[in-house]
Amino acid sequence: MPNVKLHVDGTIVEQEVKDNANLVVLAGTRQFPKLKYGCGMGRCIKCTCQVLSGAESLDPPNWKEEKMLGEKVNEGYRLTCQLTIRDDVEITQDNISVSLPKKRSATAVK
Ligand code: FES
Repeated sequence: MPNVKLHVDGTIVEQEVKDNANLVVLAGTRQFPKLKYGCGMGRCIKCTCQVLSGAESLDPPNWKEEKMLGEKVNEGYRLTCQLTIRDDVEITQDNISVSLPKKRSATAVK
């Protein structure tokens, strides 16, 4: 079973999870404590983390992560709700600063 280490609020939560687990789903059913999250659907960025180790076992960032996090995906930032955990991973939600992308204004139609 993969071991997940989460740095959050200055503490470390370390826990084994089932293969192919989604941490936000686990948090939502009180099976993974302290994780910060919101919508669970890649829309709010409240679950943003930075991967400290184990990134190679994760799928590449999907379109939602690229849309919401922009260039931050190149710095190891991910949306936790979009991650499938298959192997040991260490992530942090401490010192994360991301903001929602600005909405494009509608183009005027003449
Ligand atoms: S919980 Fe909202 S984007 Fe992940």
